[in-house]
Amino acid sequence: MSGIIGYVGPRQIVPILLNGLRRLEYRGYDSAGLAVVDEGRLEVRRAAGKLRHLEELIRLHPLDGTYGIGHTRWATHGRPTVENAHPHCDCSGRLAVVHNGIVENYLTLKGRLLAEGHAFRTETDTEVIAHLIEAHLGQPLASEVDPGSRLERAVRAALREMTGVFALAIISADVPETIVAVRQGPPVVIGVGRDEYFVASDVLALLYYTRDVFFLEDGQIATLTRQGVRVSDFEGNAVTPRLERIEWEPILVEKGGFPHFMLKEIYEQPRALRDLLAAHTTSDGRRVRFEEIEMPEDHLREVRHLRLVACGGSWHAALLGEFLIEHLARLPTKAEYSSEFRYRDPILDAGTLVVALSQSGETADTLAAVREARRRGAPVLAICNVRGATLTREAQGTIFLHAGPEIGVASTKAFTAEVMAVYLLALYLAQRRGRLDDARAEQLIREAWAIPEKLERVLATDDDLRALARELVRAPAAFFLGRGVNYPMALEGALLLKELAYVYAEGYPAGEMKHGPNALIDEHLPVIAINTRDPDSPLSHLLYEKTLANIVEVKARGGRVLGIVTEGDVEVRQVADRILEIPSASYWLSPILAIVPLQLLAYHVAVFKGCDVDQPRHLAKSVTVE
Ligand code: G6P
Repeated sequence: MSGIIGYVGPRQIVPILLNGLRRLEYRGYDSAGLAVVDEGRLEVRRAAGKLRHLEELIRLHPLDGTYGIGHTRWATHGRPTVENAHPHCDCSGRLAVVHNGIVENYLTLKGRLLAEGHAFRTETDTEVIAHLIEAHLGQPLASEVDPGSRLERAVRAALREMTGVFALAIISADVPETIVAVRQGPPVVIGVGRDEYFVASDVLALLYYTRDVFFLEDGQIATLTRQGVRVSDFEGNAVTPRLERIEWEPILVEKGGFPHFMLKEIYEQPRALRDLLAAHTTSDGRRVRFEEIEMPEDHLREVRHLRLVACGGSWHAALLGEFLIEHLARLPTKAEYSSEFRYRDPILDAGTLVVALSQSGETADTLAAVREARRRGAPVLAICNVRGATLTREAQGTIFLHAGPEIGVASTKAFTAEVMAVYLLALYLAQRRGRLDDARAEQLIREAWAIPEKLERVLATDDDLRALARELVRAPAAFFLGRGVNYPMALEGALLLKELAYVYAEGYPAGEMKHGPNALIDEHLPVIAINTRDPDSPLSHLLYEKTLANIVEVKARGGRVLGIVTEGDVEVRQVADRILEIPSASYWLSPILAIVPLQLLAYHVAVFKGCDVDQPRHLAKSVTVE
């Protein structure tokens, strides 16, 4: 985990590094630090906690320089203290390293370095990297005309001894105006400006300065100076990078008048879904198209079953995908936690399509699941929001979400976009497999296009949700219930309340309550029951009746029920304490409308409780460790 940034060029460096770290804080916010070189002197500032503590420290003890690196940390090795904050230095205090990832054999390396006389200040694996590079620096070789080559050689020698996954940026006070960056796993993007170069974990950190970038591939080193950037592999062979222009506008990484990124992102959902539908349906509204899927069509026709792998909220979208794909495409489908999938010897072959869902495309467990799937000969598709993400490089094709940058740690617009993307994937497979005639496909696509406007109507109930949230503020815990397609939404609603408002919450299939959880029901436990109804779906009608019975059971035991229901509902209204209406939609798409009130509910409870909505404690947006 963690975010790294680096800059070499003529501008004032500290604002660039701090601004970059602000954009990367979603990757971790346990501590932050900078190292810059000024007239041959390496200066380091580090602070525990959020970035503002580092900013305060720098205000009291300013620094300046012409090249430098920065880091925002999500603790893995070592507690989130100032000592363990990056950058870490070598013995001389003239070389500094920032690091995202894990060096697996750091204890072995440390033992050897200790024996060689290196003194360590911390327990971190990163400090070992600094000392290891120092051990390899030696004297410049005759062939090393520019000082950067010497640092690059030492880094390369250190890399030969290190195992694990890591992104690194390294500077030395003895190597003027040079940054060496390394990728072996986590993402590294190089920003190209005029007489200035940047390195970062994510393009979001660079948008204000340049949109011309390239991504390092695994096993590559970039050496940045004011004169240019040199890319090579770990053996030293030169590589020509592929420059890309990022289309995202810098304004997308601003809050745009909202108090939090999360609220802004909740309100962006209608726009995000329209963009997704415009990108992935034909203009006549009859077919789904996925231009970036490189898999031949006959290959897709041969698919016999699907595995959907994902983590966190994305796993809930995958679980809904199980319902959608099995129903619409009639293909056996299973959703799996990425972190479990590869450890249980899954049965995979060329007829199993593995679909990895990930907003970031960097979640380590999901990447590991994808690698395992490919190793076993299964074709892999990605559903992802971030262009250039590792997942999109490892999958044979990607369905992009078009949701725009998502910064709030809890996923909202990317989540509903994932749900819509699996719906479209289900239609796509159904069409390609001859399971869907054109008229029905057109109707299902039309129903999808109706969702953004309905979602705007859900957003208009925000004030009601705020009032409902007030009643939940003191609740010790909460239960979320649903059946069928609403069950994954119950799980997602509970996850949001847990992670944002630190309220213990559980999502449960409504029909399972009688097998245990009913014993917990009393007047203190709020129960949020999603019970929508699609008048045109017999299945929806059946599930409505069954869930209604479960709500009555909760009420009979003294529970307090908030029902999320379809406009015009009569029966839940009669038994629940409170209801919130959402527009009527097809059974298969209604979850997109049902989750939005739960997003807003969790948001408002968190705000009332004074929680840090965009950066909940102990979490990070992009989890790049397994
Ligand atoms: C983290 C985030 C969640 C996200 C999950 C999976 O836990 O806080 O919001 O759902 O990772 O992330 P991904 O990028 O793979 O969708």
